[in-house]
Amino acid sequence: MSATELGLPGIRGAKPLGVRDPARPDDPRLIDRFGRVATDLRVSLTDRCNLRCTYCMPAEGLDWTPRDELLSDDEIVRLVTIAVRRLGVEEVRFTGGEPLLRRGLESILARVSALRPRPEISLTTNAIGLARRARGLADAGVDRLNVSLDTLRPERFATITRRDRITDVLDGMAAARAAGLDPVKVNTVLLRGVNDDEAVPLLRYCLDAGYELRFIEQMPLDAQHGWQRTEMVTAAEILSRLREAFVLTPDPTERAGAPAERWLVDGGPSVVGVIASVTRPFCGACDRTRLTGDGQLRSCLFARTETDLRALLRGGSTDEEIADAWRGAMWAKLAGHGIDDPNFLQPDRPMSAIGG
Ligand code: 5AD
Ligand code: SF4
Repeated sequence: MSATELGLPGIRGAKPLGVRDPARPDDPRLIDRFGRVATDLRVSLTDRCNLRCTYCMPAEGLDWTPRDELLSDDEIVRLVTIAVRRLGVEEVRFTGGEPLLRRGLESILARVSALRPRPEISLTTNAIGLARRARGLADAGVDRLNVSLDTLRPERFATITRRDRITDVLDGMAAARAAGLDPVKVNTVLLRGVNDDEAVPLLRYCLDAGYELRFIEQMPLDAQHGWQRTEMVTAAEILSRLREAFVLTPDPTERAGAPAERWLVDGGPSVVGVIASVTRPFCGACDRTRLTGDGQLRSCLFARTETDLRALLRGGSTDEEIADAWRGAMWAKLAGHGIDDPNFLQPDRPMSAIGG
C-alpha cells in the first residue's frame, strides 16, 4: 500500500485541482486562512421538494438534477467516510430539497452511523411523511431533527408552501418527539405582511409541545431572486415582538460559534433561538462545509465557486486525493458572505440545490 493510500497528511499523489497553495499548513483538518476549522458537514441528498415555499421555489418547481448527475448512495457514503475519517468532521446534517424524498435515505443514515468515530447525525426536513418514518429514522441513527414550519394557520401554510399539508407537518413533528428525537427543533422564516404576526403564537405552540423554536432571517437564496433587504424581517424586530409577550434573557449555555443566538424564555429552561444570518453574520465562527446533491463541494452557502468532488470520485481518485482537494477548497474559503456589500452577488444555485 502506498503512503497516499494510507492517508498520511502531507504526502500527496496527483494534484487533481491545480497547484497547492504553499501557505497551507500540513494539517489533516479542514482549516482556512482565517483560523476556522470545519467540523460540520451538510449534505444535500436531493434538490427535489414536495412543497413550493414562495421564498424558495417558483410554483412550477425547478429543473431537478438528473439522476445520473446525483451522487449514488455509495458515493455519498464514501465522501462522508473521507470527511469523518480523514478530515475531522464530527457532525453530518442531511438536507435537501427535501431529504425524505431520497430513496434509500435510511440505508445511507445507517451506513453513516456505523462509521467510527461515529459522527452526530441530523436531518433538516419539511416533515411531510415524517409521521410514518420518524421511528425508522431514529433507528437508522438520526440523533436530531430540524423541521421547517412558518405558520400555524392552515390557510397560510397553503399560501406559503402552495400545498395544503400542515396536518402532515404537525403530525410528523409529534411523531419525531415520540420517537425520542429530542429536542425537535423548528425553523421559522418570517415574511413581512405574510406571517410576521405569528412570532408569539409559534413560540407558545413550541413551548407547549416541547419543541425548540428558531427564527431564521430570510437570506438571498431563492430561485426567483426576489429577496429584498428592506423587506426582510430582522432579528431585532423578531426579538421585540417576542418581548411583548415573554421575558427573554441570554442563555448562558450558548455554544460558541453556534449560529442561533439563544434566549431563555421567562427564565428558562425553555429557549428560543434567532439566527441573524444577515444582520448579525456569524461567518467568523463558521464551522461548516457543504456537499450538493450532485457532488459539488462548497465552502459556504454563498460561495461563488464549487469544487467537483464527483469528477474525482468518478475519475478514480484515491480517498487521500479527494481529501486533499477538499482541504484545498476549504483553505480558500472567504471571510464572510458579504450580503451587505454593495457588490454582493447571490449564488447561481438556489438553496434547494445547495442544501440548507
Ligand atoms: N432564507 C432563510 N431560510 C431559508 N430556508 C429556505 N430558504 C431560506 C432562505 N432564503 C429555510 C427553510 C428550512 C431551512 C432549510 O432553511 O425554511 O427551514
Ligand atoms: Fe421545500 Fe424547504 Fe424549499 Fe420549502 S423551503 S420548498 S420545504 S426545500
